[in-house]
Amino acid sequence: MTTLADDLARLAAIPTTDVLTVDLPLPGKEQGKVRDIWRVGDKRIIVTTDRQSAFDRVVGTIPYKGQVLTRLAQWWFERTADIVPNHVVDVPDPNVIIARDARVWPVEMVIRGYITGVTKTALWFNYDQGKRRLYGIDFPDGLRKNERLPEPVITPTSKAASGAHDEMMTREEILAADFVPADVYAQMEDATRRLFARGQALAAERGLILVDTKYEFGDIDGQLTLIDEIHTVDSSRFWMQDNYAARFAAGAEPETFDKEFLRRWYVDEAGYRGDGDPPPLPRALAERMSRLYIEAFERLTGEAFVPDSADPGERMVLNLRVAGVLG
Ligand SMILES: Nc1ncnc2c1ncn2[C@@H]1O[C@H](COP(=O)(O)OP(=O)(O)O)[C@@H](O)[C@H]1O
Ligand SMILES: [Mg+2]
Repeated sequence: MTTLADDLARLAAIPTTDVLTVDLPLPGKEQGKVRDIWRVGDKRIIVTTDRQSAFDRVVGTIPYKGQVLTRLAQWWFERTADIVPNHVVDVPDPNVIIARDARVWPVEMVIRGYITGVTKTALWFNYDQGKRRLYGIDFPDGLRKNERLPEPVITPTSKAASGAHDEMMTREEILAADFVPADVYAQMEDATRRLFARGQALAAERGLILVDTKYEFGDIDGQLTLIDEIHTVDSSRFWMQDNYAARFAAGAEPETFDKEFLRRWYVDEAGYRGDGDPPPLPRALAERMSRLYIEAFERLTGEAFVPDSADPGERMVLNLRVAGVLG
């Protein structure tokens, strides 16, 4: 069994009404940590479930997370399509995006405006251990946790096969390994910087700091295309803007809307950093995450989040029939 199948089997034994996995009457299901995917012709049906990952493992489910992520990604895709084309064709259901199938470039384009994080690929985790050259970039002495960087830095990681950890890389390593052709990689860097600038600007209008995020790109008909998700609470960190400076000056942690407190719970309370089986996410934490994710969505978009609580499996089949994707 793969690690993912193993994680899902353990979680299936815990009773909740959250969307752990989805079965559509279609062949060829693929599973990522968060998404169940079917390839149909030149399209992909991408179902975002309520699965929550941490340290590259699935640790539990968060109520309504799939709906929040789907709507938030859709909101951002619409607001960034002038920078780089994206894969979205249709959003026929609160959990489903129909996308154009891409040849995926095997690099996660992480970009960070602040030095923070407790995972093995995080800037702060490595800097705190004394490293000053990270991702091929030199960092000065004297930085403090959560400090704003003079300018955003791109810190790419390899897209690991299921169950493996993403590895820190430099531009030189990516090009030497032929992961991406040099001209395409230059386009990816440019798109990454411009998407992040747009994200930071729109978040700032809503009183939030977009701290860091990651993008995935693919090739569709020879064109660089943004795929997967964008500026969701899963792929990004968001902090409250108005109290950031005061908290930073006082040496206190920022007020976050992301999974950092979940990561902190795993590290501080459970002593877990990604080795061995993760302890299951406590339900109280899952519910707190759910409230936080919904609040982040509502702040960013200015829209109310009204969950659709119809049976997700039946609803998706119905909506996909209406969209003409299922017979
Ligand atoms: N348009 C697309 N074409 C092909 N693959 C895609 C597209 N959009 C997203 N993907 C891939 O689908 C998967 C999404 O599932 P997810 O659960 O997020 O996976 P992961 O465990 O890799 O994070 C990722 O591997 C992503 O690269
Ligand atoms: Mg993913």
